[in-house]
Amino acid sequence: MIENLKVRFFDYPLQFKKYEKKYMEVIKRTFEKGAYILGEDLEVFEKNLAKFVGAKYAIGVGNCTDALLLSLLAAGIGPGDEVISVSHTFIATIEVIKFVGATPVFVDISDDHNMNVDLVEAVITPRTKAVFPVSLNGRICGNIDKLVKIAKRHNLLVIEDAAQSLGAIYKGKGAGTFGLAGCFSFYPAKLLGSFGDAGAVVTDDKKFAEKVRMLRNHGKGEGADIKLWGLNCRMDNVHAAILNFKLKKLPEWIKRRRKIAKIYNDELSDIKELKLPPTSAEHDDHYDVFQNYEIEGERRDELVTYLKSKGIEVSLPWGGKGVHQFNALGLAKVRLSRTEELFKKVMMLPLYPEIKKEHVKYVIDYIHKFYK
Ligand SMILES: Cc1ncc(COP(=O)(O)O)c(C=O)c1O
Repeated sequence: MIENLKVRFFDYPLQFKKYEKKYMEVIKRTFEKGAYILGEDLEVFEKNLAKFVGAKYAIGVGNCTDALLLSLLAAGIGPGDEVISVSHTFIATIEVIKFVGATPVFVDISDDHNMNVDLVEAVITPRTKAVFPVSLNGRICGNIDKLVKIAKRHNLLVIEDAAQSLGAIYKGKGAGTFGLAGCFSFYPAKLLGSFGDAGAVVTDDKKFAEKVRMLRNHGKGEGADIKLWGLNCRMDNVHAAILNFKLKKLPEWIKRRRKIAKIYNDELSDIKELKLPPTSAEHDDHYDVFQNYEIEGERRDELVTYLKSKGIEVSLPWGGKGVHQFNALGLAKVRLSRTEELFKKVMMLPLYPEIKKEHVKYVIDYIHKFYK
């Protein structure tokens, strides 16, 4: 057994080093052109991203939080409205609902850690205007097709938080393309990460796309005319230029993520104290892209401490709490039994394209040792 390795949860410098020369070329070219805001690189990236995702339009924004917020604003959701989502998500999904003056309504999750679509109909009220399914860990929310049907029946909009699932597929359709809009994050640790914040909205709806485009740039249409109240939520052109380069690499990085996930799945499946994510074989309904490798484990806190003592960094999603469990947010009355059970056991193992197989093996060996 190998000893004394240091396994980082994520390794930004390693990722930078691999294509350092290319990144510096892209940055230099953009800076030399003096193209900083709403430049040609952004237009090209928007076209490339829309094509990659399988949507008609993509609009680059400052981050995924902007993408979610502008989608709500463009959809006209505001005070008095209710939006259905989950608590096992990053705070951004829910904070934007609060910030437009609407009320978040929570449903519990399924065993794949995403929204349990079968619970949605029971919480729909005359005030419900939209559903925010979140596709976590690189897996599209299971039965999202069923959710879209439920939403249609009740005249609700579907806006996907696809921050963690760029490139994931469910029944032949890409993440972000199931409802009115899909929102993506290019935060550095994401599947397609920039060197700072960036995000995007994708949609097939021309009017909605135009509105998001105006909202992200102070409500401006073509030229300087102000068409509506807007904000500054633009994606920087230099990020778009970097993302244009990285998008070409994404399919290869996804393959690598799937390979590492398979190694974890194959080699940890005999530990009965662990619950692993689905395998996602090529022919499945789901093609998962493993933004994270999220497991449930008995004696989780002890395991985390043990792995840390062996030089292995692991992470608890959102610091170990669902949105409704942060006391300051005033959501204490919300009860979600599966979500609450999950947060007693959940943790994420290191998984990124650059991680060495030797490091993955090291993590696996010590998890085995712990449960023996
Ligand atoms: C599920 C989810 N939604 C939204 C966001 C927000 O993305 P951003 O940091 O780009 O605003 C994130 C980022 O961590 C996320 O994981």
